[in-house]
Amino acid sequence: MTLKKILVTGGAGYIGAHTVVELYASGYTPVIIDNFSKSDRTLLEGIEKITGKSLIFHEGDCADRKFLKEVFEKEGDLDGVMHFAAYKSVGESVEHPVMYYQNNLNSLLTLVEVMKEHKVNNLIFSSSCTVYGEPDSIPVDESAPFKKAESPYGATKQMCEQILEDAVRADKKLKVTSLRYFNPIGAHPSAMLGELPIDRPNNLVPYITQTAIGIRKKLVIFGGDYDTPDGTCIRDFIHIVDLAQAHVKAIDKLLGKNEDEHYQYFNLGTGQGVSVLQLVKEFIEVTGVKLNYEIGPRRAGDVVKTYANSAKVQTELGWSAQYAAKDALRDAWAWEKRLRGLTT
Ligand code: UD1
Repeated sequence: MTLKKILVTGGAGYIGAHTVVELYASGYTPVIIDNFSKSDRTLLEGIEKITGKSLIFHEGDCADRKFLKEVFEKEGDLDGVMHFAAYKSVGESVEHPVMYYQNNLNSLLTLVEVMKEHKVNNLIFSSSCTVYGEPDSIPVDESAPFKKAESPYGATKQMCEQILEDAVRADKKLKVTSLRYFNPIGAHPSAMLGELPIDRPNNLVPYITQTAIGIRKKLVIFGGDYDTPDGTCIRDFIHIVDLAQAHVKAIDKLLGKNEDEHYQYFNLGTGQGVSVLQLVKEFIEVTGVKLNYEIGPRRAGDVVKTYANSAKVQTELGWSAQYAAKDALRDAWAWEKRLRGLTT
């Protein structure tokens, strides 16, 4: 039996790399492409250590049509694609909107065209809960409308989903699943793989671990006067390994014989709302380390509270999160320590 081959764009990034590990574990052969614009080779080395595989890897930009066509031609028999390659910093997208539209839209458009030319019809797309904006009610389910995006980054995710829905409608062979991530955190339990921001972190957990290890002086919690029980924002923090495993369930389903709806979309969250302050306190409790933090001003563009209704993905893909936030925090800390040479 030939193993199913899946192209993973952005496979050297945080979510892509963890998904590559889970693809191998489920008997797939991932083919990674990455241009290292927001990543470096460290995570590829981590994948190799965990899986013991020598990776199939092509360096390049998936908005570069010539490069992408060469990969499809060389690999020949791709069964599907997982598209992670995109910019994801909300703040940077506000400062450089055109760069965000250019990168996130062009890479998807080029990919979909090249897939069609090569008769590759199965695509998993990395979307985000940001498509809902500030939801009217929580937990938010997939029927919630797309509100006006809070940032150009969010707008690119909404536009990409629209492009895919239209493309599927026009091409009966194309099947796409968009996965709307809530807040992925944590690291592989082996501590060989984790989040590695190449600049100053934007996201909460890498900021926490970098502060705890002494790279940053202080964690500022953005806003303590929101209308929430402790005044800080509420999020749905999902362990990166749970998130990665959901991708395998999604591609299993897409490659199965199921011929029903061709454009599908699922929330990926735990269904639990946890406040930023709660998460910070949980980190201190789980790791026993000191963390210098203070409550500061609100950050522009933050949604106040959101967490997922994950009933749809549970029913249709048979997936639900297995790890708790404390597991993710423990794993993120183990990864940070290993990365900085504090453990072997
Ligand atoms: C944002 C996007 C999400 C995207 C993700 C990718 C929105 C509404 N959400 O998530 O779609 O997938 O980025 O990067 O656009 N925080 C602090 N101090 C810090 C860092 C963060 O208090 O130093 C707080 C934030 O204010 C927020 C929470 O922690 O309340 C989580 O922030 P972050 O990790 O940046 O993720 P989101 O903004 O939720």
